[in-house]
Amino acid sequence: MTAARIVVVGTGYVGLTTGACLASLGHRVTCVDVDQTKIARLSAGRVDILEPGLAELVTRGLTSGRLGFVVGAREAVRDAEGVFLCVPTPMGAGGSADLRAVEAVTSEIGDVLPTGCALITKSTVPVGTAQRIRAMLGRTDIPVVSNPEFLREGTAVADFLGPDRIVVGSDDLDAARWVGDLYADLDAPVVVADAASAELVKYAANCFLAMKLSYVNSIAELCERLGADIDLVTEGMGHDRRIGRTFLKPGPGWGGSCLPKDTSALVRVAESVQYDFRMLTSAIEENIAQRDRIVAKIAGAVGGTLAGARIGVLGLAFKAGTNDLRDSPALAVSSVLGALGAELTAYDPAVGGEIAGMVVVDDPYQVAKSADAVVVLTEWNEFKRLDWTYFAELMEGDTVVDTRNLLDPHRIIDAGLVWQGVGRPRAA
Ligand code: UGA
Repeated sequence: MTAARIVVVGTGYVGLTTGACLASLGHRVTCVDVDQTKIARLSAGRVDILEPGLAELVTRGLTSGRLGFVVGAREAVRDAEGVFLCVPTPMGAGGSADLRAVEAVTSEIGDVLPTGCALITKSTVPVGTAQRIRAMLGRTDIPVVSNPEFLREGTAVADFLGPDRIVVGSDDLDAARWVGDLYADLDAPVVVADAASAELVKYAANCFLAMKLSYVNSIAELCERLGADIDLVTEGMGHDRRIGRTFLKPGPGWGGSCLPKDTSALVRVAESVQYDFRMLTSAIEENIAQRDRIVAKIAGAVGGTLAGARIGVLGLAFKAGTNDLRDSPALAVSSVLGALGAELTAYDPAVGGEIAGMVVVDDPYQVAKSADAVVVLTEWNEFKRLDWTYFAELMEGDTVVDTRNLLDPHRIIDAGLVWQGVGRPRAA
């Protein structure tokens, strides 16, 4: 298709990735934010988000003149053909999505959008939002299109440029197809839908992923009780193409800025139409149970009592490849450990500074010093390369609780330590 004039409102990891990637596809993109400092930094090519490939794309976009950054949405949208809303929709009161940012931008730009300009929601918004935005706009010449993102933090650029699918939904199907065409250069199926279906796809997909993980964590628990090995069980399951090989790793529970908020929001949405989404509620409860089982496992590794136990924590981010701590299972486990009286020393390659209730160090070996047990909570590859013999020398106790099944148990045993994973036989 020919290059379109696009405005992206919001320069978080979704907005910035969307803007930079659309510019790399040949469109003329203006990214808008209310944060002046951020816009000044981005205009100078400075990207503060840890997202592989993003800084390069921003620089390339700036150099080509196809990407620009400004403060003030009203001015920016005056000659736009499409405006993407990429503002936060955090968990609000009672677990439902907080739409205040989406509504604020809509009312800010509503009367200056040029006729025919598509207003596109990319942030995850509850079903019915497109309709709500249309009502707020009070204009029939502005099509509202839902175009949910499926970007994982840490691989957002690769996910954007190599998507499994593009979903576009609107009650104006021509407008939906126009948005789909913006991605014409990408080799991906385009699902054209009504607005409500497109909005629901995003929740249905994220909640399915969350349920898949809760299921795997439950099977891992069964493995421990029955003497089976989750690695072999998931390998055997994953060859079935209906199940798939990915998203089958047990861990300390699922977290991050999306799955916890989207699962709660869909439960609330279901309630609003008198449907009790028990399967999803159970998946959320199971996630808390998983955290508690991990805490119990760590307690077991230090003789049953956490009060006064010194625990070395490896990993704080919600997953490897990011410095994001939002709803991090590693923090959730740590905070329960702390509340039960454990003394925590933590290291994460991407996280520094102060975190309430624990000492955060910048050298992984410091977490081992006099530790009664060490626990791996985020799957950073660099933990595999640590000198575990040195760890053994520094530690007081002898157990490494590997909640991500990341390490090679043989290396831990060779170092004279005990390895305890999740859903796998203990190795000593
Ligand atoms: C998630 C979805 O995967 C994206 O498709 C979606 O676009 C995004 O939310 C969003 O709504 O914006 P993200 O939050 O970046 O992406 O994180 P994931 O990679 O999905 O991981 C979520 C959690 O599941 C993490 O805590 C991770 O450690 C855990 N996980 C993931 C496992 O415990 N095991 C696995 O096998 C995979």
